[in-house]
Amino acid sequence: MTIYNTEKREDIHKNLIIIIDFGSQYTQLIARRVREIGVYCEIKPYTTSLSELVAKTPKAFILSGGPSSINCNQAPDITSEIFNLGIPILGICYGMQLMANKLSGSVNKSEYCEFGYAQLQLIKQCKLFDGIEDHIDDNGLFSLDVWMSHGDLVTAIPKGFNTVAITSSCPHAVIANEELKLYGIQFHPEVTHTKQGMRILERFICDIAKCEKLWNPDLITNDIINNIKRQVGDSKVILGLSGGVDSSVVAALLHKAIGDKLTCIFVDNGLLRLHEGDQVMAMFAKNMGINIIKVDARRIFLDKLANITDPEQKRKIIGNTFIDVFEEQAAKLDGVEFLAQGTIYPDIIESASTSSSSHVIKSHHNVGGLPEHMKLKLVEPIKELFKDEVRKIGLNLGIPYEMVYRHPFPGPGLGVRIIGEVSEEKADILRQVDHIYIEELTKAGWYAKTSQAFAVFLPVKSVGVVGDARRHEYVVALRAVETVDFMTARWAHLPYELLEVISSRIINEVARISRVTYDISSKPPATIEWE
Ligand code: XMP
Repeated sequence: MTIYNTEKREDIHKNLIIIIDFGSQYTQLIARRVREIGVYCEIKPYTTSLSELVAKTPKAFILSGGPSSINCNQAPDITSEIFNLGIPILGICYGMQLMANKLSGSVNKSEYCEFGYAQLQLIKQCKLFDGIEDHIDDNGLFSLDVWMSHGDLVTAIPKGFNTVAITSSCPHAVIANEELKLYGIQFHPEVTHTKQGMRILERFICDIAKCEKLWNPDLITNDIINNIKRQVGDSKVILGLSGGVDSSVVAALLHKAIGDKLTCIFVDNGLLRLHEGDQVMAMFAKNMGINIIKVDARRIFLDKLANITDPEQKRKIIGNTFIDVFEEQAAKLDGVEFLAQGTIYPDIIESASTSSSSHVIKSHHNVGGLPEHMKLKLVEPIKELFKDEVRKIGLNLGIPYEMVYRHPFPGPGLGVRIIGEVSEEKADILRQVDHIYIEELTKAGWYAKTSQAFAVFLPVKSVGVVGDARRHEYVVALRAVETVDFMTARWAHLPYELLEVISSRIINEVARISRVTYDISSKPPATIEWE
């Protein structure tokens, strides 16, 4: 575990890259790549005013791709003044086309759309690619394997620019005005299919825009701890600890920053996984010495859920009951001024641009719905971080790997994995089934290969035979998916042999289960959870 020297103050935000978002599905990926390189960046919608952007004193701008065509009405636009600021700019795909268009080049529909691999031939020297290539042919020509996805292309380059690279179907695949440090690339350096993508981004960020690499887990942790101390001072803070990675990392950070002035509230709602409550208490209370109030609210939740079968009603009851329980506990604590939350950067980006469904989903989970009258100020220590950064910081703070890389678990817990009415008996059965499933997945190395895996309790009974006796018992479904963003997902192709081991263990060890099924639906149209 690292010992943090919080006296040492480094302004880790001083090298800022602003990524202007034109709606590309890859914008967050660009930002994650910039951070992986070691430089802080922020995503801003293209509608942000130039004065607001300039006030942040960025070292460079990256213009993202986007789904629109430059030539259609209401295509996302920015002011041409941005190109006169003397700040380096890298335009990617739509961002390149926009740059060419604004500086009096031209962009037209491509004869055919180009999706997938392309070979980029470098025809002119350029700082962006100097010494970076995948192939050199017999004539000494350099080329790179890149990934393209576009329907329009630049057909005439602006004055002062050179064509640096071409592909078989793209006469200006890279353009540059090196004097003004303006670069346009038609391909996507942020995706892993572009083999040298990271080196190209690093060249732009570190050599052309001259950013130092200050964004690393140690310095970020230091910075967050200092900020918490500054914001909270001597006040007391409460945090709803769920045991998920975000609230766990927030707890560890707050504990480092303010020690005993943090109190966590961990609510056992009867819908947790096997041993989950004990694990959270052992890890945070015993090992780390964090103040935690464990509230046994199992009866309250299960009584309120009796006879309720509608999924949305179940979610609402669980969410509201959580708030009631949390509020009741908070009221018992004296002089609490702050409520800590595990909001992360994607929540902020998504809520700034749209009220997308993922944000709505998240609001079930966070304690964000706490009533106004609680009048607590918010402290959100990880709101600048992506999930992978939160994980790295979690490991740095000494939270065990298994906890940091745990699959997500929904706020309503097993409540949305027991189809129809919830009961203690069903929750107990599901806990055992889920435990066997995850244990076998982990043993076989499949837990880390899947993004989320869990069992679902179905409201059906089926006949089975054990020895000579028939039994009429419950059916469970197993689900495992692979996904990057949880917005779309593919069902995981688990080996038959593994499914066989899991199913046989479940049926043999959990007496109330007579049949096991495997869910082979992808999202869309099926969601990841069943309710
Ligand atoms: P779906 O089922 O919408 O799930 O495909 C996408 C991701 O969100 C999680 N999820 C929830 N998380 N409260 C949460 O905190 C909820 O009500 C909720 N519903 C779904 C789900 O586990 C998956 O990771």
